[in-house]
Amino acid sequence: MKKLNHIIESQQFDKELLEYIFSLADSMKSDHSQHQIKGKILATLFYEPSTRTRLSFESAMLQLGGNVLSTESAKEFSSFSKGESLEDTIKVTSGYADIIALRHFDIGAAKRAALVSDKPIINAGDGAGQHPTQALLDLYTIQNHFKSINDMTICLVGDLRYGRTVRSLCYLLGRFYKPRILFVAPKICEMAEDIRQFLTKNGVHWEKMDFETAIEEADCIYMTRIQKERFLDMGRYSQAINKFKIDNSILPTIKPGAIVLHPLPRESEIHPEVDDDPRMIYFEQAQNGVWIRMAIIHLLLSSSN
Ligand code: CP
Repeated sequence: MKKLNHIIESQQFDKELLEYIFSLADSMKSDHSQHQIKGKILATLFYEPSTRTRLSFESAMLQLGGNVLSTESAKEFSSFSKGESLEDTIKVTSGYADIIALRHFDIGAAKRAALVSDKPIINAGDGAGQHPTQALLDLYTIQNHFKSINDMTICLVGDLRYGRTVRSLCYLLGRFYKPRILFVAPKICEMAEDIRQFLTKNGVHWEKMDFETAIEEADCIYMTRIQKERFLDMGRYSQAINKFKIDNSILPTIKPGAIVLHPLPRESEIHPEVDDDPRMIYFEQAQNGVWIRMAIIHLLLSSSN
């Protein structure tokens, strides 16, 4: 099987590795006692806010019997605020920990970190770049509900231009499956050309569609937040928000067997009044992050021994 030193982007995975990670995640969920990595240390270096990614990585490591060093709000509370470079921080942290999960505001930061680290780096989100472990847990969640992703219509909604989760998911879907993909986005948040070209090159049918038609046709609706933090011009942000919303009024138009995902956090795009509908599986999706991250940590630490 392909050996991974770092997890930086979705294009690194092959089908065999994906299947191995998903089966290891199943095993972590049912009984992780046989996969303990006592004594190992995970450092979580987060320069951007997070609830799920940081805490699920830390929960994963603790459940595996390891330990955690953490700096949240690293932009303010690490020596970044005194001018330290990312490279120096990584060189130092790799002497304190066996594996590092890094969230950073710059596209390409995880790749830069990997170049100077002798310990595995996991990209936990690099600006508007990628979020590969989120894509793994998204795909794992979809696979747990559908036998064949090839026969599905998957609708991606919201901030497709700056959304790292949808970018990473498209790379996995495009490489290994042939679903029909529908893009629903405000004009200023449309999916970027590189992903569109990648899907076309890989024979994936994609099209832009209006929200109402797309959610009637979709087997999987992947909602995302319009990310205020990615806009320099608040006027443009105001033009992009509050366009698409799932609430009680829209539930009858969603297929009975469909699923609705969201990487979270959400704003107004999914009203909490629909949370009890069995098709809304975003909290199950967030929980799957723990099993997937246990599998990833285990895989990277086994490869680095
Ligand atoms: N899905 C996700 O990345 O959530 P957080 O920003 O809370 O980590």
